[in-house]
Amino acid sequence: MHNIYSITFSPTGQSRKISYQIAEVLSGDKQCSEIKEIDLCDTAVETVTLSADCIAVVSVPCYGGRVPQTAVERMKKIRAHDVPAIICVSYGNRAFEDSLLELADVCDGCGFRVIGAAAVVAEHNIMHVYGAGRPDEADRAEIRAFSERIRTKVYSGDFNSPELPGNHPYKEYHVLKAPVLFEKSRCAGCGLCAAECPVNAISADDFQTDMEICVNCMRCISICKNGCRHLPDEFVYGLIEKMKPVCENRKAAEFFI
Ligand SMILES: Cc1cc2nc3c(=O)[nH]c(=O)nc-3n(C[C@H](O)[C@H](O)[C@H](O)COP(=O)(O)O)c2cc1C
Ligand code: SF4
Ligand code: SF4
Repeated sequence: MHNIYSITFSPTGQSRKISYQIAEVLSGDKQCSEIKEIDLCDTAVETVTLSADCIAVVSVPCYGGRVPQTAVERMKKIRAHDVPAIICVSYGNRAFEDSLLELADVCDGCGFRVIGAAAVVAEHNIMHVYGAGRPDEADRAEIRAFSERIRTKVYSGDFNSPELPGNHPYKEYHVLKAPVLFEKSRCAGCGLCAAECPVNAISADDFQTDMEICVNCMRCISICKNGCRHLPDEFVYGLIEKMKPVCENRKAAEFFI
């Protein structure tokens, strides 16, 4: 009996959804128990040791062509003993660059054996016009087909690691920092943003953001039901224009087995 883990750092939920879809296909097999989730956005995530009877799907977003450094730090809580892992990066239709390779290295360091990898386009959570509606029906069909091939690979005992795109050393970690604006007059004081910020950057007293700590993950903006948190419009529109040449054409999801 295999235990299936979906391990995700997914501030706005896209990576988590894709991870779960892959895990569901793997768990469709009678030899598997239900899916267990480990949420690396949880600031209090506990140390976990996974044994060889587990299969893990590890998914994160791409930030500036890299793995978010918060995710790299939190992955240090996971110990695995020769556990087969399928890794996945979701990205907003610009590029995933060194992120998949870096995630593979991080997983190797934890003791996983990376047996499959996917880079899947998802709606860009800053520039929503790019990758809008992705992953779509066609992407989901491809994710399903990939997951079925992985399932066959796991049960044939083939734990070979695929060749992945990317470079060593990785590109420099450089992620744009835009101020997260807060419209206090519309705030209902529900506290959700402060409770859910993956790096505790929001005060639970006045809901102001400490931009020294904020990693611009967009979670608070996406979950505030009153729409009181947002990036400056001119920043977003400027970025959309600037990134048009590299973001506007549809990119295919890529799979590695
Ligand atoms: C700080 C930051 C940096 C990003 N960098 C990239 C990037 O380099 N390439 C890209 O295509 N998308 C980039 N994106 C878009 C996200 O990778 C994409 O929206 C992802 O699906 C979000 O995943 P999540 O919903 O699991 O948080 C970036 C988003 C953020 C917030
Ligand atoms: S989630 Fe929105 S409404 Fe709730 S405390 Fe935060 S800013 Fe205010
Ligand atoms: S304050 Fe920054 S790090 Fe925290 S949820 Fe909002 S965007 Fe993410």
